[in-house]
Amino acid sequence: MKRNYQIGIGNISIDENAKRNVMDVLNSSRLSYGDYSRQFETEMAKIHDRKYAIFLNSGTSALHIALQVLKDKYGWEDNDEVLVPAVTFVATSNIVLHNRLKPIFVDVEKDFYCIDPKKVEEKITKKTRAIIPVHLFGQSSEMVKIIEIAKKYHLKIIEDSCEAMFVEYMSRPVGSMGDISCYSTYATHLITTGVGGLAMTNDDDLAIRLKSCANHGRDGIYLSIDDDKGKNKKDLFNIVERRFSFIHLGHSFRLTEMEAAIGVAQLKNWRSIIKKRQSNAKYLTANLSKWSKYMQLPKIRDGATHAFMLYPILILDRKISRKNLTEYLEINGIETRYLMPLLNQPIYVKLFGNLENLYPVARNINKNGFLIGCHQDLKKEELDHVIGVFNSYFSRI
Ligand SMILES: Cc1ncc(COP(=O)(O)O)c(C=O)c1O
Repeated sequence: MKRNYQIGIGNISIDENAKRNVMDVLNSSRLSYGDYSRQFETEMAKIHDRKYAIFLNSGTSALHIALQVLKDKYGWEDNDEVLVPAVTFVATSNIVLHNRLKPIFVDVEKDFYCIDPKKVEEKITKKTRAIIPVHLFGQSSEMVKIIEIAKKYHLKIIEDSCEAMFVEYMSRPVGSMGDISCYSTYATHLITTGVGGLAMTNDDDLAIRLKSCANHGRDGIYLSIDDDKGKNKKDLFNIVERRFSFIHLGHSFRLTEMEAAIGVAQLKNWRSIIKKRQSNAKYLTANLSKWSKYMQLPKIRDGATHAFMLYPILILDRKISRKNLTEYLEINGIETRYLMPLLNQPIYVKLFGNLENLYPVARNINKNGFLIGCHQDLKKEELDHVIGVFNSYFSRI
């Protein structure tokens, strides 16, 4: 099998700055929440125009407690409903189930693969409490319409921005519009800390609840080991009395200073990372568009910038089998993934039966969609290799 190239869907590059920061943490013996975590949170919040960012051990954890704190705060009942797109990574919908709420799937847009605002209202019932738009592959969902609908029906918005950071929609940072937005810094994401995620909000009360839920549900008076430093006697005694008090059903969703140290270093490069991904995507699209009768290449929404966490492709021609094409790409060293199928996942079929027929756009994507990478470390010769492999595949048809 020829496999000269391995063009992955993402890549991890740890620069000298990141290594220095991690050594700094190890030399300091301060492994839990400290200066690097604070700095990473502050910088990420600022970039995304949010008051608070809380660094957690995954994007899934961020989503999980985002929904939990809204459910607790607003007194939602078990089995109340949450709208999620019918195409997304399973975590978006899993956390609804883990919170004992009911995911109600909404079909997605043909062009951008995000939740289709035109199909949202028909899914709203008296039990609908929230909507989770997912900014898939690096660009925003149609937030203007989603916000309009959420206001009309008094729904809360959690933005699943695990695949989109450092980009804008309608001149606003992606992830700055919902009640809470959640990001991932998992290994192949736009910036990476190995594992990690953030929950962001502008709401003081939600921020304290999020921190508490990530810290075993602890009383908000003592959420970091620095919270009892430099206090006068009265405040200290108040903290001592409450610091081992747990007021929410919490989790241990924290991580170490080492991940934050890598994150701080990665943040120095975000502009060049996004620029390189955008230029890689532009180059791929310019050279693959001659095959646009066979496949839909990624489109950029009006008013949006795109981070190209991934490069989604949808096969348009029935004669072309996804299996055959993706296998051809794989044997030529190009890694592929299917395009975030959800409803046909074995566990979803087991839980909900066969829903796909109710969601024609999702069904088509589940059958014909796939992803390739366009990450910042790809070189021109590697992009040319990708283009060459598509050319040789389609020129035989
Ligand atoms: C859309 C989406 N939501 C949630 C997640 C979960 O993030 P994590 O892997 O950090 O838990 C991912 C991860 O890839 C994702 O792509």
